[in-house]
Amino acid sequence: PPKGPMLGKHVIVTSGPTHEPIDPVRYIANRSSGAQGAAIAAALRDLGAKVSFVTGPASVPAPEGVDVIAVETARQMRDAVEAALPADAAVMAAAVADWRVTNSAERKMKKDGSGRPPALEMAENPDILAWISGLDWQRPKLVVGFAAETHDVIDHATAKRARKGCDWIVANDVSPATGIMGGTENAVTLIRADGAREWPRMGKDQVARRLAQDIAEALA
Ligand code: C5P
Repeated sequence: PPKGPMLGKHVIVTSGPTHEPIDPVRYIANRSSGAQGAAIAAALRDLGAKVSFVTGPASVPAPEGVDVIAVETARQMRDAVEAALPADAAVMAAAVADWRVTNSAERKMKKDGSGRPPALEMAENPDILAWISGLDWQRPKLVVGFAAETHDVIDHATAKRARKGCDWIVANDVSPATGIMGGTENAVTLIRADGAREWPRMGKDQVARRLAQDIAEALA
């Protein structure tokens, strides 16, 4: 029989990049592999949680034993998160595109012979983390966000925690020299209301297990 400290708890995890279409065959994306989000979903599942795994087009497979909701764009991701509520906790590990193309074409764009490239018009995407953190009665008890920084990690992540209104921020240094983006290891600092705690560098699956354990304790 299933057991574990998260039995009966529902957690929404977002993961992967989003794709923002330019035309039917082109899109704007980012280099997120979805590895950390998938590992977190698996770790929460292992503690007995019911996991709604809302994932963009990731390059790693979704874990088994979670409810997979596959989306493409930021707006689809926001709608899928909303549809998955209510939840006890939310972990927003997706690398959501900040902007979408508002003049995307229904047919493939063609060179028109003028030598002038098309002008993409863009609008800001919904900030899913800030939105879920600001919900009233539907707000999950614990909302966890991520911050990928290349410098002044703790300062920026602490400011981000306040700005987004989430409970915790998992901050990581993604400067190219660390090899973290797209790699198997992570070095994170967990920012909570009572301050910052730096974790030693470890595998993304170990980061996931430790984070899942902390989430279980916070919800207990
Ligand atoms: O503002 P920034 O993109 O650095 O914030 C990162 C955090 O916010 C991550 O947890 C990410 O999943 C979340 N986010 C989001 N929706 C956005 C942008 C970021 O949920 N549109």
